[in-house]
Formats: sequence, structure tokens, C-alpha cells
Amino acid sequence: MQTLVVKPDEAAILRAAELIRAGELVAFPTETVYGLGANALDAQAVPRIYQAKGRPGDNPLIVHVAAPEAVAPLAFVDERALALMAAFWPGPLTLLLPKKPIIPSVTNAGLPSVAVRMPDHPVALALLAACGVPVAAPSANRSGRPSPTTAAHVLADLQGRVPMILDGGACAVGLESTVLDMTAEVPTIVRPGGVTQEMLRRYLPDVRVADSVMRPLRPGEKAVSPGMMYRHYAPSGQLTLVKGTPGAVAQACKAQYEQAVAQGKRACILAFAENSHRYAGLTVRQIGSLAAPDTIAHELFAALRAMDDAGMEIILCEAVATEGIGLAVMNRMCRAAGFRVLEV
Ligand code: TXA
Ligand code: MG
Repeated sequence: MQTLVVKPDEAAILRAAELIRAGELVAFPTETVYGLGANALDAQAVPRIYQAKGRPGDNPLIVHVAAPEAVAPLAFVDERALALMAAFWPGPLTLLLPKKPIIPSVTNAGLPSVAVRMPDHPVALALLAACGVPVAAPSANRSGRPSPTTAAHVLADLQGRVPMILDGGACAVGLESTVLDMTAEVPTIVRPGGVTQEMLRRYLPDVRVADSVMRPLRPGEKAVSPGMMYRHYAPSGQLTLVKGTPGAVAQACKAQYEQAVAQGKRACILAFAENSHRYAGLTVRQIGSLAAPDTIAHELFAALRAMDDAGMEIILCEAVATEGIGLAVMNRMCRAAGFRVLEV
């Protein structure tokens, strides 16, 4: 199969919508990461997503809609969910709601809930409107790789596996949406993202973060969000997350780096703009600025992919505080590191 990467003008969006209505796949930009879309209501089309990604079939998909009103046929919506949609949609908030029978079990892995989200991106919204059907879309990466934040990342993973990629440039947020379980007794963040716990508290004073967000699953434990079960985001090299005061972190990163280089290994340090002067003469890649934590979210996945492209074998990454968007950043960093954290 040939993969077309196209500029998302009106004609391209109509062509993409036709493909989706015909049961094919299209990769498209959202404000978080690129998605790999299929008609969410077509039980023949959705399995193609799993095939193209190499994704385990027990990992449910997010259903994307063009407007809050489009959720009513798909899921049971209560007052609290309506208030959240009004406050945060379009935007990086996915709601888990009790599903209605129209959802084929292949879309939500046969669970009682379905994940719904209205993305904040003109191309995604134009595509959804043109399709006229809800679109199931996981991140458009091969399973296990970092989520794609540019069309080039999608092409690197899915060339020959999808007919069309709409190229909308780099994604603004850079990390996947917050997944909020509204079917739990207490509303629970099962995946942190751009809409933070602090932002949600205004609408849901009791909102909590699932404790599995910041630790590995225990043997035999069932994931609240099945996607959290799998090895995720991990580069091929060994990534260690280094946590502590800036001076101590820099010292530890340098020591580990020099040890790796002495063993003939390719090494790199992922550092914040404020700290990169501490690593003069070493191979460093900046991953945003502590003064603007959104920039760290924006840079992280591209940096992880760049480590693979450069064949880095040892990667030392500075940690952030788990406040605001920092919780989402650390959740992804910890998984990329396989929970290899060095506290100094
Ligand atoms: O920002 C995003 O959310 C992107 C863009 C494309 O919208 N999509 C995305 O999808 O990240 P995906 O499939 O890579 O991640 C969806 C996560 C997975 O961890 C999945 O297990 C969880 O949401 N999920 C989906 N439906 C669920 C359900 N019914 N119950 C529990 N977890 C669910
Ligand atoms: Mg994903």
C-alpha cells in the first residue's frame, strides 16, 4: 500500500472523510498527538487500526466527535459530564462514560465504558464534520513507540500500512489527552495529560489520580486504563530518569554519561534549558524549559524518537516536579525509563 502524506486542504479532507466512510484508515493531527482514525461504528474497519499499529486487541480506543451533542447516541451523559464538556471541549480531555449498545465491542474492547473526546484542532474537527461518523483513533504510532507529534513521525512508523496521512504540522500539546474515568465512584484520572487535576478540581472537587499513574503495575494487577499495561514510549537505548536538586542531578548525569562513554557507548543527556550549561562539552538535547513546563510536554516524544534515530545506547533524563502538566510528563518519562529512576 502506498502512503500519501497530504496538505490538509478542503479537497484532501473530503478525500480523507471518504476513506473513513469506506472503512479505511486515515492518520490526522490533533492538538495532543497524531491519531490513526477509522469509523468507530464499523466493526470491520476498526480491526485495521489494531493491525496497522500492532496493538493488542484488549486495549480500547478513544472515540472522537465533532461536538458534545454527538456523544448522546454513543454514551450516557450526566450533568457533571456535560459541565466538563462545556468547560474543556474542544481540548485534551477524554471522558470514560457508560457506553450505549451502538458501540461495537472491537472499539472499546468489550468494556462497559467508552472513551470520548472532542479534539481542539481545525483539521481534526473538519475531518470529523466531513465524516459524519464518530472516529475511533489511538495515537498513530506502532504499538510501544512514543506517540507521533509530527506527520514525519507517523510516516516513520506506518509507511505502507495506511493510505493517507493529513500533515497538519507539529502538535501543540505534544502528550496524549487526560483520560478521566467518570464511571468510577470518585472521578479518577487514569492517564494524566494537558487538562490537569488542578484544572478539573473546580468542576470536580473530589477528583483523584489513580495511584497506578506513577508506579509500575504489580504482578497480576489489572490496569485501570488497559494502555498502561504495556511497555510504552521506550527508546531502544537504556533510559534513566534522574531526580533531585539541579546540582546533584547534573553531577549524577555527568558521572553516568562518562562511565558509558568510557565503555565505548553512545550517550546523551536530556536536559532542561535552564540546566544545559551544566553539561558543556557533552552530547545534550534540550527538552524544553522549566520556566514553561508546556514546552517540556511539547518536546518530550520528539526527543525520545531522536534518541533512537541517533542510536543512543545510554540516555540520562532530568526529572520534573509532578505538579500541573509535570504529572503527565513524569508519567510518560517513568514509562519510557521502565521505572528506572535514580534519586540523588
Ligand atoms: O490525545 C489522545 O488521547 C490521542 C489522540 C489521537 O486523541 N489518542 C490516544 O489514544 O492517546 P490511545 O489509544 O493511544 O490511548 C488511549 C488510552 C489507552 O491507555 C486506553 O487503554 C485508554 O485510553 N482507554 C480507552 N478507552 C478506555 C476505556 N473504556 N476504559 C479504560 N481505558 C480506556
Ligand atoms: Mg497510544
